[in-house]
Amino acid sequence: MSDLDKISSVFNAKIDSVKTKDDLQNIKTEFFGKNGQITLQFKTLGSLDPEKRKKFAYNLNKIKEDLTSQLEQKNIEIETSEINEKLKNEKVDVTLPFRPYRQGKIHPVSQVIDEISSIFSEIGFSVAEGPDVETEYNNFTALNTPEDHPARDMHDTFYLEENKKLLLRTHTSPVQIRTMISSKPPYKIIVPGRTYRCDSDQTHAPMFHQLEGLHIDKGITMGHLKGCLDYFIKEFFEVKNVKMRFRPSHFPFTEPSAEVDIGYKIEKGKIVIGDGDKWLEVLGCGMVHPNVLRNVRVDTKKYQGFAFGIGIDRLAMLKYGINDLRAFFEADYRWLSHFGFDPLDVPTNYRGLSK
Ligand code: DAH
Repeated sequence: MSDLDKISSVFNAKIDSVKTKDDLQNIKTEFFGKNGQITLQFKTLGSLDPEKRKKFAYNLNKIKEDLTSQLEQKNIEIETSEINEKLKNEKVDVTLPFRPYRQGKIHPVSQVIDEISSIFSEIGFSVAEGPDVETEYNNFTALNTPEDHPARDMHDTFYLEENKKLLLRTHTSPVQIRTMISSKPPYKIIVPGRTYRCDSDQTHAPMFHQLEGLHIDKGITMGHLKGCLDYFIKEFFEVKNVKMRFRPSHFPFTEPSAEVDIGYKIEKGKIVIGDGDKWLEVLGCGMVHPNVLRNVRVDTKKYQGFAFGIGIDRLAMLKYGINDLRAFFEADYRWLSHFGFDPLDVPTNYRGLSK
């Protein structure tokens, strides 16, 4: 028996007992590894005289092909039996009783953001976004709030660095700056998003939601601002008339500035929006300060406009009769199944916002 025949018969005896991938790897190494039996035979080729070498190389290659194809075949067998084993173990018993199925709900804050976006998109606003982590420059300086301005303290800012260059945005107003820096006027955007202040009680949470509005174009006036907010409040609360009051106020980024109150009354223990002799503050607004426009290189001789900022959580509480702001952020499934909304019931102006 030649050396090659011996190798071949040893291999044939061993391949039958190969059952796993590890066995397969071992036999591969034994014959084709660095010091494998076949590898070593190839190394002898150089020392043979040409005639012998030709014949031996021919036989050696034939054996090599034969063994390799047996190894491949074995690999397929092992993989197939592994899959079959897996399928057998993972079989699902469809006769078992089912678990109760709970449907997810849309959080009232998400619902209200969708409602607001739908209302404003009807009159040509698009939705813009910005990051929660802001620069001190976008959050304050570019918005005409100088270093020593008291508004910086009023906001109870969460600073992220010792040198106060990065912070969690205290309002959505910095997205005004981002939008105006990155594109050319006119601008007509709303910005819903998360905002942060170091503050927490029944009506304040350290993370809350705001909606910013910005409309800059040629010839925009306070009249447009009033018309826009009047339209929004009526659509949002789904009432025909709403009493609105503009109170002079101060924000560094607007001039003149106002806070807006809406009329309400209490009927059978419930808040009724629109009418009555009580007032609720719902938003801040004003004409964008020329300094803000200059900071973002908008030509103040050509362009002007208004901005506003609304507390979204507050609006959601008012519209859906929710008393405690903190419940919004507790992720209590029972609360959500009561106050949440059907995921397939997307609010639109045509089909109705909340019904
Ligand atoms: N950024 C203000 C705040 O958080 C709200 C606000 C007021 C936004 C007036 C505006 C505005 O755009 O014009 O208190």
